[in-house]
Amino acid sequence: MAKLRFMTLERHIIEEERKHPEATGELSRLLSDLSIAAKVISLEVNKAGLVDILGFTGDHNVHGESVKKLDIYAHDMLFRAMDHGGHLCVMASEEEENIIHIPHHHRLGKYVLLFDPLDGSSNIDANVSIGTIFSIYKRITPDNTPGTLDDCLQAGMHQVAAGYIVYGSSTVLTYTAGSGAHCFTLEPSIGEFLLSHENIKIPSKGKIYSINEGNYKYWHPGLKKYIKYLQEEDAATNRPYSTRYIGSMVADIHRTLLYGGIFMYPADSRNPNGKLRLMYECNPVAMIIEAAGGKASDGKKRLLEIKPDELHQRVPIFAGSPEDVLMLEEFLRNEEE
Ligand code: AHG
Ligand code: MN
Ligand code: MN
Repeated sequence: MAKLRFMTLERHIIEEERKHPEATGELSRLLSDLSIAAKVISLEVNKAGLVDILGFTGDHNVHGESVKKLDIYAHDMLFRAMDHGGHLCVMASEEEENIIHIPHHHRLGKYVLLFDPLDGSSNIDANVSIGTIFSIYKRITPDNTPGTLDDCLQAGMHQVAAGYIVYGSSTVLTYTAGSGAHCFTLEPSIGEFLLSHENIKIPSKGKIYSINEGNYKYWHPGLKKYIKYLQEEDAATNRPYSTRYIGSMVADIHRTLLYGGIFMYPADSRNPNGKLRLMYECNPVAMIIEAAGGKASDGKKRLLEIKPDELHQRVPIFAGSPEDVLMLEEFLRNEEE
């Protein structure tokens, strides 16, 4: 029988941090607080389908308490798990218009946390995978002062850690703190995330493309040509590709990480900047994809180099196997000329 490795997320984070003698342990504690929020959200997501059966109606449950939408619930849980640890100076969430200050009675730390509390929320009622995405930076303003918008508006390449949790057939947390991307699966009976894929490597080329093809009419001509190219038959280049599109970016990205291929949410004639958010969705998954040897682009350049202007900025994204992303960029470039 294969020897089982009993590597919890906590232990993995601590061992990774030990490789850096200058580390203070603060990032380990931050990630470990985040994993607690993930467990609480996972529990609630698994109960989502019971809401009607147990007689919850409208905005109120059987106790007369108001029932929050799951994305607001996830936002609140993350805030409450992260506001008092002393690791953060500021937060920002897809669900909140402005930056979120750390309440003044808590200690301030040197990190900045941005998150999409629930990604793929339109899939909740259909029991389809959804997730949480997070991005961590070091502050750029002076220590022991409240964090500012400038701390949040850093280019993705300055992230010190990033990750996501997929609430699917099981709950999986993937993170990178710079050296490799690692996946952990939640063992619900003991409430621990256990290492399931260490130092994951994305295939250099895949056989799956992932895009909302309903928007075909509005695409750039180069993108139309690229998709047609992927659909042609050619044994030497493994075409035609297959299509998979879940409609939850976290889940589509997780599959892309494991099986390879390309995930796309392009700009189009109706949405010139695409749909997905740079700070909460694209930067963190780009950091994970790169840590696994993949590429993430806005169609022209490396996504992690974009200097953001605003918190809720949108950006086109093409992420996945390096050869597939390079090929896409070439198609877009050729139509430009
Ligand atoms: P969110 O639920 O956080 O608003 O994000 C939804 C996003 C993302 O998860 C997914 O990739 C995309 O919306 C799907 O959009 P389309 O329905 O336009 O394809
Ligand atoms: Mn989202
Ligand atoms: Mn969301």
